Amino acid sequence: MKEVPVILIGKGKVGQAFLHLLIEKRSIFRGKYQVDFFLQGIFRSSGGALWRRKEAQEVFFFPDEQLESAEYWQAGFNFLDAPLKKYSPGVVVLATASLLETGEPGLSYIRKALASGWHVVSADKGPLVSHFRELVTAAKTRGLSLKYSACTAAALPTVDVALTSLAGTEIIKIEGILNGTTNYLLTRMGEGLSYEEALEEAKNKGIAEPDPTRDVEGWDTAVKILLLARTIYGVEVKLEDIEREGMSGISGEEVRQIAGRGRALKLLGLISRDQRKISLSVKLVPLSKNHPLFFVQGAEKGICFTTDTMSLVTVIGGKSDPRGAAAAMIKDMINIFTRF
Ligand SMILES: NC(=O)c1ccc[n+]([C@@H]2O[C@H](COP(=O)([O-])OP(=O)(O)OC[C@H]3O[C@@H](n4cnc5c(N)ncnc54)[C@H](OP(=O)(O)O)[C@@H]3O)[C@@H](O)[C@H]2O)c1
Repeated sequence: MKEVPVILIGKGKVGQAFLHLLIEKRSIFRGKYQVDFFLQGIFRSSGGALWRRKEAQEVFFFPDEQLESAEYWQAGFNFLDAPLKKYSPGVVVLATASLLETGEPGLSYIRKALASGWHVVSADKGPLVSHFRELVTAAKTRGLSLKYSACTAAALPTVDVALTSLAGTEIIKIEGILNGTTNYLLTRMGEGLSYEEALEEAKNKGIAEPDPTRDVEGWDTAVKILLLARTIYGVEVKLEDIEREGMSGISGEEVRQIAGRGRALKLLGLISRDQRKISLSVKLVPLSKNHPLFFVQGAEKGICFTTDTMSLVTVIGGKSDPRGAAAAMIKDMINIFTRF
């Protein structure tokens, strides 16, 4: 049995869901994968805790009214001050939200984790948008893994399919519905709601964020295709190079007119390879029924890969919520520590 210590940074919606899965799936990790992931530390904005025992107190796993009074908890204790080199290395799981421009605070956390010999699994896109090459190189030169499935459509497998299942093919084009919120809005507008009504409903259901700007203006999809293109094609593309269209200016009436012509309006992330040039864009596209993404409804996501030797390969589904994101991080951890 491989024993793997886990340090979680960020105990918000995704971090909490991750902790639940760590308990819920422990017998599967041990039985099926012969890996025992055990929590060794936890950090949030107000402080942190790091302990030596293998079994953590229950209070660390559950919503945290009593966290601040728990044993080992230190107010103001930051991950950057953690004496990591004194611990046998495992995996640092990052569930913070960082700025896309600077990558902080996650950037410093990933740098420290890798420099201390720990693998990293991140749901935080910020550091990967701002310092992708540096971080990937830092992990590679140390023989460590830096995985970020939760940043590239989370529960919908994207990077893994491209790198593993499509290995040896040339991926000519990628088309994705990569944002559950915008697909939910467009679906509901097609069914009769106005943009405002659909947004209100999505907020009430916990699908849309209180401030949905990043989603509806296409930024979230742009970030995802940026990370996909950098990972799959190794290109140095920047966020500002992506041609980007949002959906906030579109009315329910326009969506329904398009539906009346037998098409479904979708906000797509597009990557195309033409000779040696890679183009990235986020666009509203009316899809006909013979496109596999036509049938992706509600908060569901989907991705199509057009390849030279395997033809069109489509993946649809994957839950768009914190539990789905946490499950994607668990998948990354299993893939780091298990060789099939
Ligand atoms: N929600 C989803 O479905 C989803 C899906 C895929 C990816 N993601 C990504 O996952 C990340 C987390 O999302 P979330 O929804 O869980 O966010 P959240 O609920 O706002 O939680 C963020 C957590 O980060 C902690 N934090 C903030 N600043 C920190 C700092 N300087 N040092 C240490 N911890 C700090 C917060 O601490 P406090 O608890 O002390 O406030 C909080 O626990 C984001 O990057 C998001 O984009 C989310």
